[in-house]
Amino acid sequence: MASKFGSSTAVSSCLFLALLLETVGAASLSYNGLAQTPQMGWDTYNAYALAYNESTILTNAERLVSLGFRDLGYRVVIFDDAMTELNRSANGTLIANAAKFPSGLQSIANQLHDYGLYFGVYSSAGKYTCGGYPGSLGYETQDAAWWASMGADYLKYDNCYNEGLSGTPKLSQDRYAAMSNALNSTGRDFVYSLCNWGDDKPWEWASTIANSARISGDIQDSFSMPTTSCPCGPDEYYCQLPGYGCSVMNILGKASSIRSKNQAGYYNDLDMLEVGNGGMSYDEYKVHFSMWAAIKSPLIMGNKLDQLSPEDYAILTNPAVLAISQDPSVSAVSRTVTQQVDDKDAWGFGEVQVWQGSLSNGDQVVAFLNAGNNSRTMSYSLVDVFGGLRTNTNAQKSWDLFDVWGNHTVMSTEVAAQVLNGTLAVGNATGYYNASETTWATGLNQSNPLLIGTPAGTVQGGGTLQAEVPRHGIQMWRLRQAGGSGKKRDEL
Ligand code: GAL
Repeated sequence: MASKFGSSTAVSSCLFLALLLETVGAASLSYNGLAQTPQMGWDTYNAYALAYNESTILTNAERLVSLGFRDLGYRVVIFDDAMTELNRSANGTLIANAAKFPSGLQSIANQLHDYGLYFGVYSSAGKYTCGGYPGSLGYETQDAAWWASMGADYLKYDNCYNEGLSGTPKLSQDRYAAMSNALNSTGRDFVYSLCNWGDDKPWEWASTIANSARISGDIQDSFSMPTTSCPCGPDEYYCQLPGYGCSVMNILGKASSIRSKNQAGYYNDLDMLEVGNGGMSYDEYKVHFSMWAAIKSPLIMGNKLDQLSPEDYAILTNPAVLAISQDPSVSAVSRTVTQQVDDKDAWGFGEVQVWQGSLSNGDQVVAFLNAGNNSRTMSYSLVDVFGGLRTNTNAQKSWDLFDVWGNHTVMSTEVAAQVLNGTLAVGNATGYYNASETTWATGLNQSNPLLIGTPAGTVQGGGTLQAEVPRHGIQMWRLRQAGGSGKKRDEL
């Protein structure tokens, strides 16, 4: 979101495009020039459902600033479902919900902007929103103009009551493109976040009209619990009944098959974060947060920021994990190993997985995910990291390992508690990184230790990565060529 107002560039020839891409990386691929790295922010829905109001918004907005979330990049505050009255005005304009927002939406929007935050709104590409409030189907231009007049910066656009206009990619794309065009015609920059739960495979068509699209039914605050409301299992990546109540492992399973079109300015959205809502253990929330970051999902918190525990605060502010999310390469990890294990949890779930990918400046990321019911030793060779070919030159090099959850980078519980209780300013907290002062890209180029992670040894060429991984836990490393500075080859 720091790059919300990034540039879009017209190109006149393939040669120029090639030169441009070499210069600015993948940045010009974004359909509207916005969200050059995955969007970050906070949304009302996971913690408050439809029962939020002005004071909820302003309390959480104040915490975004005072706890340093804004300066990590969590900048958009999204008013989810139920922000309007149940009826439109006589001329069809949406009306802000007067009981919820006595000061008026405009005044709240102004306060958010004064805080240096963005104002996010919600509607549905249907007759009604999921909560039964007016939807924007057929009112795209009018609604976009209303949001723009109040200075909105972001739209989350749902799929309820869509009048049967789904079932083929064209039907869905046309419906969502109507709003994309309406937003563009306001002349205001809107980050556009589709929320059609993976219906009609938006990962195949939405990158030309939007900045992100949900790939699954709604998340629930659980690691692996199956529910009948989320009928498709983790291996059914394309689901006719996306539902709701989907666990972290269910959504990760779906995400593992969807690689296409994730690029600067367009992201597969695994749904909002549950960290801080109490349904998962510390290790499970670390899995959830790490994997959402490494897959380049938008990172939209969905918790009560005035009730955060020190542990959850330390997770959400972990600079080495956020540096992977906001890495300029915008390259998502993929799953290379999935293996059933005998030690299933109470829900009958038990798997180990390895995910890996590349980062800017030649760094790599490797994650061992132990979704078994006991802690275990996991290992994976460099040859496997680099495609299984023993002759691969990268596999023959030595790599320094950096633990992104090591104690150099995660804020300690004591420090986190002091910031939360107001006895320590976040800017003075060990383990805090201010990305407003120094962008993620610059910090990475400078090899800021907070962003790289805690040194965890070197694996020699042809060697093996190994770690003891807790139950429902993760070991995630950044790998950097040993002896290198992390700079591009032509800078060495
Ligand atoms: C769902 C959506 C949720 C939330 C909810 C509001 O369709 O996936 O994220 O917006 O509607 O009613």
